[in-house]
Amino acid sequence: MSEFKRTLVTAALPYANGPKHIGHIAGAYLPADIYVRFLRNIGKEVIFVCGSDEHGTAIPIQAKKEGITSQQMIDKYHALLKSNFEQLGIAFDVYHRTSEKLHHETAQAMFLEMYEKGLFTEEVSEQYYDEENQTFLADRYIKGTCPNCSYDNAFGDQCEKCGNSLNPTDLINPVSTISGNKPILKATKHWYLPLQNQEEWLKEWLVEGHKHDWKTNVYGQSKSWIDGGLSPRAMTRDLDWGIKVPLKDAEGKVLYVWFDAPIGYISATKALFKELGEGKTEFAYPQNTTLKNVKADDWATWWQDDTTRLLHFIGKDNIVFHCIIFPAMLHSTGQYIVPDNVPANEFLNLEGDKMSTSRKWSVEMEDYFNAFPGKEDVLRYVLTAIAPETKDADFSWKDFQTRNNSELVSILGNFINRVAVLTHKFYEGKVPANVAPTEKETDLIAEIKRCQTAIAENIEHFKFREALFEMMNIARAGNKYLADNEPWKTVKTDQARTDTVMFHGLQIAAHLAWWMEPFIPYTAQKLYGLLNFEKVNYQFDAFVQLQSGHEISQPSLLFQNIEDDIIQLQLDNLKQKSEKKAIDNIAPAANSEASLEPLKPQITFDDFSKMDLRVGTVLEAEKVEKADKLLKLKVDLGFEQRTIVSGIALDFTPESMIGKQITILANLAPRKIKGIESNGMILMGKNLDGSLKLIAPNELADNGATVA
Ligand code: 2FM
Ligand code: ZN
Repeated sequence: MSEFKRTLVTAALPYANGPKHIGHIAGAYLPADIYVRFLRNIGKEVIFVCGSDEHGTAIPIQAKKEGITSQQMIDKYHALLKSNFEQLGIAFDVYHRTSEKLHHETAQAMFLEMYEKGLFTEEVSEQYYDEENQTFLADRYIKGTCPNCSYDNAFGDQCEKCGNSLNPTDLINPVSTISGNKPILKATKHWYLPLQNQEEWLKEWLVEGHKHDWKTNVYGQSKSWIDGGLSPRAMTRDLDWGIKVPLKDAEGKVLYVWFDAPIGYISATKALFKELGEGKTEFAYPQNTTLKNVKADDWATWWQDDTTRLLHFIGKDNIVFHCIIFPAMLHSTGQYIVPDNVPANEFLNLEGDKMSTSRKWSVEMEDYFNAFPGKEDVLRYVLTAIAPETKDADFSWKDFQTRNNSELVSILGNFINRVAVLTHKFYEGKVPANVAPTEKETDLIAEIKRCQTAIAENIEHFKFREALFEMMNIARAGNKYLADNEPWKTVKTDQARTDTVMFHGLQIAAHLAWWMEPFIPYTAQKLYGLLNFEKVNYQFDAFVQLQSGHEISQPSLLFQNIEDDIIQLQLDNLKQKSEKKAIDNIAPAANSEASLEPLKPQITFDDFSKMDLRVGTVLEAEKVEKADKLLKLKVDLGFEQRTIVSGIALDFTPESMIGKQITILANLAPRKIKGIESNGMILMGKNLDGSLKLIAPNELADNGATVA
């Protein structure tokens, strides 16, 4: 393996179709930013690229909802996202747009190159078509029931419930999201990437090569895709919004958004080098970059030289695209490097429930900034402290308050304040001399060094929660040191000891400024100001950062307590917004036939009475092997015990089913499911959001009791 000379960090290009919430930030942008800031601080060559994803069906669909054109929408949200990221201190080298000419040209060139190398297959297939609107129904223009988990609002490209990637023709009961009509099938030609041809290479590179260094969630998901067998994937779409397919016989066709979006990382890199080379700043941030003497052509070194380490920071719903499809595209051209790691995060829930902008159960960036002006770092701190690194995590407003008040204020802010106030009180703001250090100081220095090594190692391994905790341990060590040595008391009796202790306290404050910067850069800036010290003067391997006699500025508080009423306001707002949204959703649903399941044809009482519905109790429940959504249940019907296989595993764990009373259709003909004979069917209610609820007797009933 080659030695890496530079690191190229990408963060998922957000769709410019709406504001982004704190879950998005915790998933990709904040960890990427911490990583990049740290590398910059230790003098590594690194760039951080991102931009708005402005194609795909998500854009025109949302534009229609908002009553604006797609162009108006991407302009509006590109500006909002860019400014939100800036405000939160996400320090990209470049924030580009996929609607830019440079990106269209880059994506088309990549498509042509792959086409000319014979890497695509052309296939005519039957695709869903909306007759009323005379349009093919790609990706999010079609909805239906997911064949894997039965969620009935799955999109044509992906089921948002189980995360599986889908083709429109996989959907059960498909409907057009434009008209609500049932679509017809119509022949159309597309260009496919035969992923199965790359299985061997993918196994070697990913399954064998990254078994030990990738996060288990990322590795596991990618491996199971490869193990499940790869198939050709269409790289073009019949749409009028997107990048035109650069071929003669491709009228009305555009590149698949997941073909063009990741190429956006390359275009953004090109834009960065072009702008830095020309001294422009439309998309580049020269104030963030550490690159020097840049030429426009240098972009290629960052993408084509295998001494570049490529890292993609993403949320877990993007794993397949960054670990399989995009690497397959890059590798097949024979010119590009592939990612060395894809540190994807899991999801962040909110107050115990899935975060969702459309259900208004979310905290959008803009809302946060309005509610907590000047507290960008508090959000950065809390989101890092609870980051969903290995499993889904939960953001709650109470926890946010506690972390601010008991950690930022009480530990970090308090330490800095004590040091600054005492320095002014005892020494008129000047760093005293290190008169007579003892073993206590040796131990303190060793602890600070240990924390620093731990922060660096944890960041290197994408463990930002741990890294943050170790950063706070520096402040904890500082507080303990002051409490143990009580300079406010010794000042009356032992000047030499007081000087020594305050000298060490001040050095710790200076270290903190440097080590906190990747996590909470605004506070670091304040602390540098307070210490009258500069980042460039930090000496990585030295303990002494502030010389005796150096004068610090006047103390000011780094953090303030957040009071209960502000937190209550956030909880009330959240509840209010989501309740209003739920009512808004129910009202049209009651009137609109398109949004409800259509009523089935009438039946007679005789038809109904043919069904034998019974109450039973679940005795045993287990997962069915290799079937994510199936549970095998043993049910006591009073007169006999039955085996029933039911597609409820995504909504219910086996443990939660045991002992439950349920209602079953008892005279349904037996069916073999995954080799197991199922004798009956469990009655379930399906909510508007697709979640399942057991239909059970209100009170305990006899097993075998009839239901009519
Ligand atoms: O999931 C999303 O929001 C996509 N827009 C991410 C794209 S990442 C990259 F490939 F551009
Ligand atoms: Zn599903």
